[in-house]
Order: sequence, then structure tokens, then C-alpha cells
Amino acid sequence: MMPTTHAETAAALDVAWVRAQFPSLAQTVNGHPAVFLDGPGGTQVPQRVIDAIADYLRRNNANTGGAYATSRHTEAVITGARAAMGDFLNCAPDEVVFGPNMTTLTFAISRAIGRELRAGDEILLTHLDHDANISPWRALEERGVTIRMVEINPADCTLDLDDLRRKLSNRTKLVAVGMASNAVGTINPVAEIVRLAHQHGALAYIDAVHYAPHGPIDVRALGCDFLVCSTYKFFGPHMGVLYGKRDHLARLHPYKVRACSNAAPNRWEWGTLNHECIAGITACVDYFADLGRRSNPVVADRRTAILAACNAIQPYERSLMEKLISGLQEIPGLKLYGITDPARLDQRCPTLAVRIAGDTPLELATKLGERGFFTWDGNYYAINLSEHLDVEKDGGFLRIGLVHYNTGEEVERLLAALQEIV
Ligand SMILES: Cc1ncc(COP(=O)(O)O)c(C=O)c1O
Repeated sequence: MMPTTHAETAAALDVAWVRAQFPSLAQTVNGHPAVFLDGPGGTQVPQRVIDAIADYLRRNNANTGGAYATSRHTEAVITGARAAMGDFLNCAPDEVVFGPNMTTLTFAISRAIGRELRAGDEILLTHLDHDANISPWRALEERGVTIRMVEINPADCTLDLDDLRRKLSNRTKLVAVGMASNAVGTINPVAEIVRLAHQHGALAYIDAVHYAPHGPIDVRALGCDFLVCSTYKFFGPHMGVLYGKRDHLARLHPYKVRACSNAAPNRWEWGTLNHECIAGITACVDYFADLGRRSNPVVADRRTAILAACNAIQPYERSLMEKLISGLQEIPGLKLYGITDPARLDQRCPTLAVRIAGDTPLELATKLGERGFFTWDGNYYAINLSEHLDVEKDGGFLRIGLVHYNTGEEVERLLAALQEIV
């Protein structure tokens, strides 16, 4: 997944600069510095995103389609954000659809695809996925569609690709799979899965929500038919974004109001969008680009700058993750889920699900929360996985999620707090 451009000469991540961008990181809880380990649930935003949202509301607040300045500015804001997401995902701006969140966008696409499916058609899903990439497809069972689930290897929480190959057939119409697991961090071989899906004439629908803050996304290289992400997971506002191949966005039939344009991508965006958040999306993508330019000043365009940012983020996150994993393994009674082999850490995100004997995940999260560490407990909607691993009835997992604004010092303090708690 690593981009192989001259951006590989990237300098180390400038963490001090990064942290200075995010005003919320300076908060304290009960006198303790706040440590945001809840990125997988939603990341913090840089000041420029806050400014872009406020500036839109202050100066451009209007609906689209009006014959006056603020309405035209609003249209320009949306056009700019489509171009920004086009650079982020490596697609054309008219292949970018905005929506309230990934879940809503996925229901929109599943309903439209469902109109073309018949009884006996099959959809392949995985036990590793977030429920937002399961329930919208399961809803098509009422049309007689058969859902088949790909198994996982419980030892390391990876997908069982042999099972996936066995379950693919010419009845398969769509394969929906996550790029990375929001619970256990596994990065799936999505390029290979897209290839297999296409070999059988099936569409490939990729959930990149969890992967997006951690690495580069290139829908052209993946060849996927659709890919969804949520900007609030990668330092932007609470919105969802869908990439769809131009032909699909034009050919499929959305449920929409008559007055809404029939041109793609607008035909997938019903009603009034969240314009202020869309303004924030451009700022969020520009944050990535600036981060990239800081680590590699010679990059030419925004896409290359985004790849340079990913090149700086990945080794930094990896070093934090190595430190965290080896420290967690010293904690008595702790079970760590997912890949732990140091040689395979490039196959996972720095999102760690653990259980510690003697405390429920909620008890652990509460004790950590009082000390200023923001972690998550439960299933985080990866409910198929928590049931599959038989932890659902016991409170799921404690999830510790690192992103590039976290520091080695925060990891050390977290480990010390956990040692104290147990
Ligand atoms: C992997 C994954 N997919 C989908 C979603 C749902 O995203 P949204 O809240 O934008 O609907 C989440 C949210 O946690 C997620 O982590």
C-alpha cells in the first residue's frame, strides 16, 4: 500500500507542528492532560477546519441554485470540496458523493443496487466488518438475495481468503469488505479481493472509514466500484463521502425526489447538504497536503502532497504501535486481539482491541477516562466480530486507537496507568 514516489524520501513527522494544529489536544481532565485514543470513533480537527466551517457560516451561508453571491459561493465551496476529495481518493471530482455519514450513503447504494437484484443472487460480506457494511446489504434479503459471510482466522483476526474464494461464484453480485477493521485493526488485502470479485462479475464495495487516517487510498489502483469513508475519522467534520465509478453513479437508479437533478453525482445527494461541513472537508484535505509538504517540500501537486503525508504518518504510527504492543504484552492478564507478530505490523492499523482479566472493558475505559485517557469499550458496531470472538456478552473489547497526533510519551503514560489499574 505504500506509495512509491519520490515522497519516499520524506522526513520524519513534525509532531510538534501537528499537535499545534489541533486546539482540542490542549485540554485537561481532572488535572490530567487529555489523551485522545478514541480516533477510531472520531478524530480531533485542526484549527483550519474549525475556521473553514465558521467562515462559511459567517460569509457564505446560503442554499444552492440562487442567482446571488452567497449561493454561488456555496456552489464553489462544494465544487472545491469535490476536487479535494478527488485528490484524497485519486478519482474525478464528479465521482465524489457527499452524505451525512458512511452508513446513510451505504443504505442509499444498497437500495439502488437492490433494485437490480433477483432472488438467488448473492452478496458476500465478512465477519470482520463494521455493521454499516453489513446491515444495508442484509436488508436486501427481503428481496430474496442470499447473504454469505466470509470467515475469519480467529488467531490473528484476518480474513480467511480461501473461504472468500470458495464462497465467490457467478451468483455473487457484490462483495462488500472493509479496508481495515475498526475493532482489531486488520488491514485487508482489498486490491486482491476487488480482483477476485471482478473475476466473478461481482461489484466491489469498499469501506475505507477506518483506514483513511492511516494510509493512502487510491481508488484507481484498487479498481473498486465504490469506496466509502467518513471525514470525521480523518481530522475533518462529521460527514460521509462516497466514491462511485462514474458509470455506476449514472446508470443505477437512486430513490430521489423529482426536482433533484438527474446528473451524477448530484442525483445521489438528496435535499440540502451540510455546506459548512463540506467547507471543512477541503480544509481537512489541505491539512494532509500541508503535512506532506512539510515532510517533503518538493512535492508538486495536492495528491502527491497527500501521499507524502501518508509516507510520514505510517512509520511514525508504526513506531508508536510497536511501543504500545510490547508494553501491553507486559500487562498481567491482558489479551491482545489481531496481528501482533512484529514482522507483520504493516498488515494492521494502530488500533488495538484488548481485554484484561478482572475488569470489564467498560470498567477499564471508565478508570482510564478519569485519568484523562479517552478509549472506547464495547463492540463499536463491529458486532459480528465481537459475537464471533464470543466477547459480546462480556462487554466486548477495550479499544485503544492511535493516530499521528498521539505521542510516544502518551503511550508510556497509558501503559503506566494500565499497570496501576490492574
Ligand atoms: C469501519 C467503519 N465503517 C463504517 C463506520 C460507520 O461510519 P459512519 O458513522 O460515517 O456511518 C464506522 C464508524 O465507526 C467504521 O469504523
